Amino acid sequence: MSGEDAAPAQQQNAVDQKQETKPAEEPKSEPAKTEAEAFTYRALVLTGYGGYDKVKLQVKKGKPALKAGEVQVRVKTCGLNFADLMARQGLYDRMPSPPVTPGMECAGVVEAVGEEVTDRKVGDRVMVLNRFGLWQEVVVSLADHTFLIPDGMSFEEAAAFPVNYITAYMMLFDFGHLRPNQNVLIHAAAGGVGTAATQLCKTVNDVTVFGTASAPKHEALTEAGVTHPIDYRSKDYVEEVRKISPKGCDIVLDPLGGSDTHKGYNLLKPMGKLITYGASNMLAGQKKNLIAVAKNWYHQFSIHTLSLIQGNKSVCGYHLGYLDGETELITQTMNTLLDLYKQGKVKPRIDSTWHLEQVGDAMRKMQERNNVGKIILTTEPMPEEEKKEETKKEDKKRTRRKKTRRRTTRRRTMPRKRRKRKMRKRRRKRRRRRRRRKRRKRRRKRRRSLRKRRNEGLWVVEFLSWERGRGLVWCGGGRVHFLEVMYGIF
Ligand SMILES: NC(=O)c1ccc[n+]([C@@H]2O[C@H](COP(=O)([O-])OP(=O)(O)OC[C@H]3O[C@@H](n4cnc5c(N)ncnc54)[C@H](OP(=O)(O)O)[C@@H]3O)[C@@H](O)[C@H]2O)c1
Repeated sequence: MSGEDAAPAQQQNAVDQKQETKPAEEPKSEPAKTEAEAFTYRALVLTGYGGYDKVKLQVKKGKPALKAGEVQVRVKTCGLNFADLMARQGLYDRMPSPPVTPGMECAGVVEAVGEEVTDRKVGDRVMVLNRFGLWQEVVVSLADHTFLIPDGMSFEEAAAFPVNYITAYMMLFDFGHLRPNQNVLIHAAAGGVGTAATQLCKTVNDVTVFGTASAPKHEALTEAGVTHPIDYRSKDYVEEVRKISPKGCDIVLDPLGGSDTHKGYNLLKPMGKLITYGASNMLAGQKKNLIAVAKNWYHQFSIHTLSLIQGNKSVCGYHLGYLDGETELITQTMNTLLDLYKQGKVKPRIDSTWHLEQVGDAMRKMQERNNVGKIILTTEPMPEEEKKEETKKEDKKRTRRKKTRRRTTRRRTMPRKRRKRKMRKRRRKRRRRRRRRKRRKRRRKRRRSLRKRRNEGLWVVEFLSWERGRGLVWCGGGRVHFLEVMYGIF
């Protein structure tokens, strides 16, 4: 797959579409629009970095151009990935800056094929994998970015398959070289990659899986095949693993980053492998949290090769987004995975399906750590009733926002004089407090110096007591005041 080729193709399309979405200033005498010009389709667009509302549903105009080696797909379902949350906050470097259509995977039906495409035909059910640009009703993609959907696999399952299963497979088998009787630590074991990794571990005999997840998901984890579910929020997962396996783990999959990477490395047995593949810890809240980002960078794991040698450990980094040039490797992995699917050994778990209009709610569900399995977006039009409910909800939110805005502006503008008076009072109080503090400090300092002098005096007096009453007494830098000597303070 040559993602570098595909990305410009998507970008070109985006540029074409941007040009075509400009308001048309056609004179009345112009001929009627051609079929290609009248072609419209809905697309989700990231309009800027920030909260859930930054992803908007828009209508794109004009049929996307189809070049040699490309296919046009009518999209049915799309997969939501953790990277989409990071991209929305501007924390994902494999997506161009907004406005851009996100989406790394989707499933649908081939609608048209370009020249030189021999292995795809109109009507084929396919899943598509790309760096971005797949959250829309119509997608143009390189044919070798598409994979045929096996019989019996639904469009939901197909959209949940590529990113999660390729990632989990390559980490466990290409890097991890997973073998029978080994044990693996999987973080976010109830999530998309986590579920895929657990299922793949079960394809090898007697593999013990430690899986961390929020407590309400533990039943699902046990069902999925996690041997020891761990609630990382209330317990120290390192201790929990050590209780069961004092030597540690053979493989640790680390999507968290920061200090968790250190913990993962320390948990490895000799000859163990740490595979780091994400930085979930960077995400804290709806918008970019600079403290969480800085904390993650500050605790970034780094190691000297000598320590690796002495530790008999291995550290690997994995990023599917940077493998987009490795068409053959990805296709091979996909073929192996699709065979496993056909044998019934792996099956994507779908958490929930959302309409394109509900993308914000879908993202919220993942970000609030409430998903068990994969979250899917469907391009099916939303039923009118649901739409009405959605608009009602939106209106409610908008009025609530307006009210709070009004309240804050009222607070800001109304009692101006009173506010000024308050501020002045506050300033005066602060000044007084500062003065008091200074005074106290000075007093303390004076008392300390007096005590010091007294002590020195005591020491002096011990040896030179016959000098009492003679004024100043000097000895080794210690000075006793005449009056203090007179009145026998010491
Ligand atoms: N390198 C790659 O090529 C690649 C490819 C795919 C995914 N990934 C990485 O794999 C991880 C999982 O991705 P996914 O798409 O399968 O998503 P996911 O696991 O479904 O993500 C959501 C789950 O992650 C857990 N989580 C941990 N820290 C979180 C945080 N700060 N905010 C919100 N949720 C958090 C939560 O579950 P619990 O509370 O139950 O833990 C949440 O339910 C992500 O870090 C992603 O970046 C990497």
